[in-house]
Amino acid sequence: MILGIIEYRFAQLSKHRQQHILRVAEMMTQLAMIHSLSVESGRLAAMGHDLARELSRDALMAEAKRLGLEPSLPEKNEPVLLHGPVAALWLEEKNVGGPDVWEAIRYHTTAAPRLSALAKALFIADGIEPGRQFEGRVGLERAAKEKSLDEAYILMLKETVKYLKSRGLKPHPLMIEALEVSDNAV
Ligand SMILES: [Fe+2]
Ligand SMILES: [Fe+2]
Repeated sequence: MILGIIEYRFAQLSKHRQQHILRVAEMMTQLAMIHSLSVESGRLAAMGHDLARELSRDALMAEAKRLGLEPSLPEKNEPVLLHGPVAALWLEEKNVGGPDVWEAIRYHTTAAPRLSALAKALFIADGIEPGRQFEGRVGLERAAKEKSLDEAYILMLKETVKYLKSRGLKPHPLMIEALEVSDNAV
């Protein structure tokens, strides 16, 4: 049997990661239906988003190079940040999904200013899938289902920045920019 890129990479992940991905796919299906997005694109983006998450730092850097990605300074310091961009290019290389799916996967960790609705939904779904355990999770899930995607996205961005700061980590410049743009829009 010939496996597609998603099945092939998915099979190599730990059970724990596979289960996270499946929960994100379920959450994306729900968000896509509520917010009138393509369920098919939503599921593809979710299934693809963490396919490179278990590569070592060296393997991520090597894959980035092979795929023609130029790592920025934060990515050189923290190669795990490349797992979204690398996975997006894996799908693009095999022509699985389309630009909306690749964009969503590429920015699912850092977010970015002016993302598409699908990409905002993936950023949210990744953060609120029920396997995540943090105090505000249920409230964020409710916001994502009852409010607009934009409102939920801003709340998720703020929650992520709060979490990163609590761990002494700096948010990625794209995330800071995403928040600035969102704040101006509200
Ligand atoms: Fe991820
Ligand atoms: Fe994830």
